[in-house]
Amino acid sequence: MARRALITGITGQDGSYLAEHLLREGYEVWGLVRGQANPRVSRVRQLLQDVRLVRGDLLDQGSLISAVEKVQPDEVYNLGAISFVPMSWEQAELTAEVTGMGVLRMLEAIRVCSGITASRGAGSGQIRFYQASSSEMFGQVRETPQNERTPFHPRSPYGVAKTYGHFLTQNYRESYGMYAVSGILFNHESPRRGAEFVTRKVSLGVARIKLGLADELRLGNLEARRDWGFAGDYARAMHMMLQAAEPEDYVIGTGRTQSVRELVEAAFGAAGLDWERYVVCDQALHRPAEVDLLCADPKKARTQLGWEPTVTFEELVAMMVEADLNLLAGGGDPHQDSSWP
Ligand code: NAP
Ligand code: GDD
Repeated sequence: MARRALITGITGQDGSYLAEHLLREGYEVWGLVRGQANPRVSRVRQLLQDVRLVRGDLLDQGSLISAVEKVQPDEVYNLGAISFVPMSWEQAELTAEVTGMGVLRMLEAIRVCSGITASRGAGSGQIRFYQASSSEMFGQVRETPQNERTPFHPRSPYGVAKTYGHFLTQNYRESYGMYAVSGILFNHESPRRGAEFVTRKVSLGVARIKLGLADELRLGNLEARRDWGFAGDYARAMHMMLQAAEPEDYVIGTGRTQSVRELVEAAFGAAGLDWERYVVCDQALHRPAEVDLLCADPKKARTQLGWEPTVTFEELVAMMVEADLNLLAGGGDPHQDSSWP
């Protein structure tokens, strides 16, 4: 019988790549979707026709219990979150509820449905749980590069909520013997990335300027540095983590770091444009507290899981610019478009 996976956040970037990967691996894939008429569900229906959908919300404990009871998954991937860092200052409480408390609700749904208690721990054949932890937890970094033992110093309500979810996942593993792991993933991007994140904002901006649809691109802090990889590679890592004999946490990243300025240079360069003619620095886009530098040390994932990234930063930027040129030239709307590349 096919193994069954339940993914929260199926309408997001990572949910789509993970679902594709698990379908290729022969899984029966279920996606948790929220709302009574969520417009992003049509994107999933178009791209991922073999994915089955179940209704539920990370804000609603009962709905998660029902979803786990209905699907009877072998593996649960908790990717659902308020994931845009600036929004976490505007809606800090909602971020804590979805991104933080949502992890507790999902773990509780698994615990209750599996009949696990402190005295009767999880046995073999239990549901395996993956939590989407984040390099934002490192925040104001204590060392570079960052590995699984680097202390956390989150710099946003989002980072704090992720840190809660991370420690809670560890705690359920230790308290109940559950197979629960966190992937500490550094920034990963693709042509399916939300338009609010900097890489996609830049690739869309370049495409608009190249096609004569805009004449400037407003950005915030150009000096921040990130370790950017390709989302498809990172979805593969999530699956690999849940196949390991022992439940452990892993850092996933490329080990290279680039500034937003270098990203901009590469993206405009890919379209034959000089960025300095078009980019406007806007103080209003700076954050109340910035994460200045992220750079992964993914040695553990490489040696224990055999995971390697396959797409370089330069290839990723070129892929995103090309996809957005094609999308906009074809009259597509990145905010409405229901066809993902
Ligand atoms: P994304 O594109 O923003 O997707 C977020 C998903 O969360 C969407 O499917 C959204 O569904 C869902 N969601 C929001 N509120 C929800 C709720 N109340 N109940 C259930 N689902 C809800 O994010 P992503 O880039 O794919 O990232 C996936 C996960 O990895 C997130 O947890 C993110 O924080 C984490 N992460 C991402 C990165 C990265 O660089 N991409 C790095 C580290 C960690 P709707 O369509 O219903 O809004
Ligand atoms: N979004 C955005 N828009 N960011 C900008 C802009 C702009 O106009 N100008 C400069 N930046 C800088 C931000 O200040 C930040 O330092 C960097 O670009 C990256 O911003 P985002 O792409 O929004 O991503 P993030 O690093 O804050 O968060 C992403 O990665 C995390 C993992 O480290 C998200 O995907 C999080 O969900 C994820 O956990």
